[in-house]
Amino acid sequence: MNPYRLAKPLLFSLPPETAHRTIHGLLAAARGTPVEPLLERRYRVEDPRLATRAFGLDFPNPVGVAAGFDKNAEIPTVLSALGFGHVEVGGVTAEPQPGNPRPRMFRLPEDEALINRMGLNNEGADAVGERLAAGPHPDIPVGVNLALSEVTPAEEAPADYRYTYERVADGADYFVVNVSCPNSEGFRDLQNRDSLEAILGTLVDAGADPLLVKLSPDLPDPAVEDALEVVDDLGLDGIIASNTTTSRPDTLRNPNRAERGGLSGKPIEAEATNMIRFIAERTDVPVVGVGGVSDAESAYRKIRAGAEMVQLYTGMVYEGPSISRDINRGLLDLLDRDGFDDVADAVGSGL
Ligand SMILES: Cc1cc2nc3c(=O)[nH]c(=O)nc-3n(C[C@H](O)[C@H](O)[C@H](O)COP(=O)(O)O)c2cc1C
Repeated sequence: MNPYRLAKPLLFSLPPETAHRTIHGLLAAARGTPVEPLLERRYRVEDPRLATRAFGLDFPNPVGVAAGFDKNAEIPTVLSALGFGHVEVGGVTAEPQPGNPRPRMFRLPEDEALINRMGLNNEGADAVGERLAAGPHPDIPVGVNLALSEVTPAEEAPADYRYTYERVADGADYFVVNVSCPNSEGFRDLQNRDSLEAILGTLVDAGADPLLVKLSPDLPDPAVEDALEVVDDLGLDGIIASNTTTSRPDTLRNPNRAERGGLSGKPIEAEATNMIRFIAERTDVPVVGVGGVSDAESAYRKIRAGAEMVQLYTGMVYEGPSISRDINRGLLDLLDRDGFDDVADAVGSGL
């Protein structure tokens, strides 16, 4: 019996943000205690066929935690013990900020989806940077999702991102410029070519390496092509596709579909996978696939569409903490079934 099946009705009786805080708090309580090695034994799948190398880093498996789950970098070691291959902490902004008024996170259980308009609530670059530097660092790569402070006007964005990068640089292994959260006014406009060039160029100059950019699934194709050109010109190391969407597929059943914010989970799976394919067909820059990964098949579809690795958030809410183990085990079966030597062998095989 999966213990999460028992806990889920109780958790789902709480407001979503309270449920998240409860789970996050329980995981934080395990940090540095003998529970961590117990979790490792239960959840880690160690197999060289899952090992992945991307942007100069070694990942024990291709299943990572997406940005937003551990915004303040409090539990990367516990998420590592749960069997994830990497953790992306943040979004972190230069200034601490409370985010939007609550409620700001909504479940759509029939759709296995979430809508959120958190608004990048986080403790700010100084606090998160100190925590990351103090460690302990888990034995998997930790990335930091860098976002723009609400109070900073767009023209000062490059300096704002640079400030955050410099505060978190010591404790992290890779850096992601997030210009794609739909919940801050004007934030996604930073994806236009000029803004991207200015922000990414400043971070390259500051020494951010490896440096990735996370894009919105709502970007029209020509804008994605523009972004890819900037990525190529600046020699960036990777692209994360994608963030949440403001679109609302007709298939959504739960009334919360009317809430404002970014939709995540199963209903965005196909669209996110199409975006990965679109990018992988146009560039050799590594792609990290995010959006609706909930089981081995959905992870495998992204890998075959060109993703070197995947990340997830909403899948953990619906499937529980065994999700990375279940996906990694399932991926091994799928690799066997299709005659691939390892994950790298399957990357882009569906293109
Ligand atoms: C509550 C919540 C908060 C999020 N916060 C961030 C964030 O701070 N930065 C970011 O780049 N993405 C953020 N995301 C987006 C996720 O990282 C991911 O791109 C998106 O949810 C799609 O993946 P999923 O379907 O597996 O959830 C957040 C998502 C959720 C549900």
